[in-house]
Amino acid sequence: MTSRFLQILMISSFHLIYLSTQQEIKFLYDNFHKQENLYLDGSATVLPSGLLQLTNAGDHQMAHVFYKKPIKLSPSKPLSFSTHFVCALVPQPGHEGGHGMAFVISPSTDFSHAESTRYLGIFNVSKNGFPSSDVLAVELDTIWNPDFEDIDKNHVGIDVHSPLSVGIASASYYSDIKRKNESINLLSGKPIQVWVDYEDTLLNVSMAPLEVEKPSRPLLSQLINLTEVFPNSSSLFVGFSAATGTATSYQYIMSWSFCTSKGSLQSLDLSRLPDVPPPRAEHKNIYQLAIVLLGFVATMGLGVLIGVYLFRKCKYAEVTEPWEKEFGAHRFSYKSLYKATKGFSKDGFLGKGGFGEVYKGTLMLSREIAVKRMSYNGDEGVKQFVSEVVSMRCLKHRNLVPLLGYCRRKHELLLVSEYMPNGSLDEHLFDDEKPVLSWPQRLVILKGIASALCYLHTGADQVVLHRDIKSSNIMLDGEFNGRLGDFGMARFHDHGGYAYPTGAVGTIGYIAPEVIDMVASTGTDVYAFGVFMLEVTCGRRPVEPQLQCEKRLLIKWVCDTVPESRPTMEQVVLYLNNSLPLPDVSPYTVGLSSHSSVLIDAASLVASSSWSASSSSSSLVNGSPSKE
Ligand SMILES: *[C@@H]1O[C@H](CO)[C@@H](O)[C@H](O)[C@H]1NC(C)=O
Ligand SMILES: *[C@@H]1O[C@H](CO)[C@@H](O)[C@H](O)[C@H]1NC(C)=O
Ligand SMILES: *[C@@H]1O[C@H](CO)[C@@H](O)[C@H](O)[C@H]1NC(C)=O
Ligand SMILES: *[C@@H]1O[C@H](CO)[C@@H](O)[C@H](O)[C@H]1NC(C)=O
Ligand SMILES: *[C@@H]1O[C@H](CO)[C@@H](O)[C@H](O)[C@H]1NC(C)=O
Repeated sequence: MTSRFLQILMISSFHLIYLSTQQEIKFLYDNFHKQENLYLDGSATVLPSGLLQLTNAGDHQMAHVFYKKPIKLSPSKPLSFSTHFVCALVPQPGHEGGHGMAFVISPSTDFSHAESTRYLGIFNVSKNGFPSSDVLAVELDTIWNPDFEDIDKNHVGIDVHSPLSVGIASASYYSDIKRKNESINLLSGKPIQVWVDYEDTLLNVSMAPLEVEKPSRPLLSQLINLTEVFPNSSSLFVGFSAATGTATSYQYIMSWSFCTSKGSLQSLDLSRLPDVPPPRAEHKNIYQLAIVLLGFVATMGLGVLIGVYLFRKCKYAEVTEPWEKEFGAHRFSYKSLYKATKGFSKDGFLGKGGFGEVYKGTLMLSREIAVKRMSYNGDEGVKQFVSEVVSMRCLKHRNLVPLLGYCRRKHELLLVSEYMPNGSLDEHLFDDEKPVLSWPQRLVILKGIASALCYLHTGADQVVLHRDIKSSNIMLDGEFNGRLGDFGMARFHDHGGYAYPTGAVGTIGYIAPEVIDMVASTGTDVYAFGVFMLEVTCGRRPVEPQLQCEKRLLIKWVCDTVPESRPTMEQVVLYLNNSLPLPDVSPYTVGLSSHSSVLIDAASLVASSSWSASSSSSSLVNGSPSKE
């Protein structure tokens, strides 16, 4: 009987023990190496040291850690619990930061809906516009948010379903030794002990530095009936939540003890806490990486800009030397010429001469110009060239092509002159598609060029030798006036001065025989003008290689020439204007050859007839202008 009683007693006490153990949850994590009973999400991870890292210093992170076994609620036995944990919130060096963390009691472990930035990874904005969650949380809040009546950015609060804390206090502890409150800096990076105790609808929160015992007075002591807080829940999970926003910090749990019956809480071994690593780590590197990447992108962008700049600079690059300063006014920028000629486009191509290509261009105010591009190597003679160009700018005569200025680049010289709408004379003389120039037109042209040459030889400040008189260098303006252009070979010397030997230049057929002596003079220009006159009147080129030998060279065919017998340009102008009697030209005149009897007759005709611009035609040669 006794044994049977004992048996019943033993069985029922076993049941009692079984029931009580079934309800009790009790665990201790001195470190988190063993984590099989833990549920982790978000950025939560266990570091090799056994440290539970909730967030690293990345922004907008969220972490949740829950003990997997829930606390079963029974109506017969009111809930009570005690917990003690050590945490550390470590900001980045030189930064204030972090959002904080919380001890959480919740019917669910699913916080995927929560927001990190504002609500510690616990709450989200519900349909009615207020942040909420079915939760009780003890927050260690390092952000001051006036919307939630936060008192400062270093406080502890008790949240029931809402971030609007029902109890709140600045992080501090009551020092039993000093008998006063001591504040705690949550973001000091140092380990902080936290105790949360609940019994008989009273929730106490205490905290203290690692070296301090649990204070005799709790920081917060709040009346809360958890049965009312979670009326529809039969079980509750306990754990932690943490988040970062734009402000960040490393947030760790170092050790954690929990039990559902007060008095049986296992104590933490504070001497064996896992080490908190100094704040450096991967996210700083990510920032650095981001900065490096940004820097790289910025450098690339800058590089492209510089490239474009250099390309443009190179495209429009010019060469300027100090001595050019005085000619500044005559200098065009390459860019303006480039734009005027639409990048030297084919559409504006006017022709190719011995010295370069000529393009038509339009400057501002629709001013039309001709731009000659000449290439040159080395700097030799450039200074002289430029100064002569500038001197030429000073030459003013209605039968000269007005030179406007120049531009200079590496290996390239550009001459800018006024655009002559009727092109060069040789086109009109030799191009069958152009209308034949009338005698009066030809005479006007000859007179004009004679006058221009006369001016160059005697009228200008210096003696200017053109040295390349020929029909292709005579341009025709809108009224078919001849304009002498292309001073590419011109030489300047003072009146009465000496023309330096410069080598035989000019165009074959126009070069006076004595130029073999290498000395150019006004006389050699006169010779060339004479050839040019023949060219205009005869309508054939000075040299026609396909013709029979004696006719090949126009001048040879006409006569030999003797320098002394040449008139001056002044005389030529007078002859052409009929103001001076023509010199005696007979078959016996020095220099005239026997082949030229026809032309001698013609010359005498010139002398006798009224050769003026108004005369409609003359009987020169066959009585009408001709083309070969
Ligand atoms: C907030 O959480 C609830 C579940 O608790 C979810 O139904 C709701 O969609 C969430 N709201 C937002 C804005 O995520
Ligand atoms: C909470 O603190 C009050 C006041 O110090 C104390 O009387 C009470 O026993 C505490 N309750 C728990 C569960 O620690
Ligand atoms: C210490 O802090 C507690 C909780 O914030 C507060 O109730 C108490 O008045 C403070 N005591 C002193 C001496 O400041
Ligand atoms: C807590 O709330 C429940 C449900 O409202 C109630 O039954 C219980 O008596 C309350 N406990 C205390 C201590 O007031
Ligand atoms: C609990 O359930 C009741 C009935 O289903 C519902 O009216 C109430 O809103 C629920 N309370 C909470 C906090 O979910």
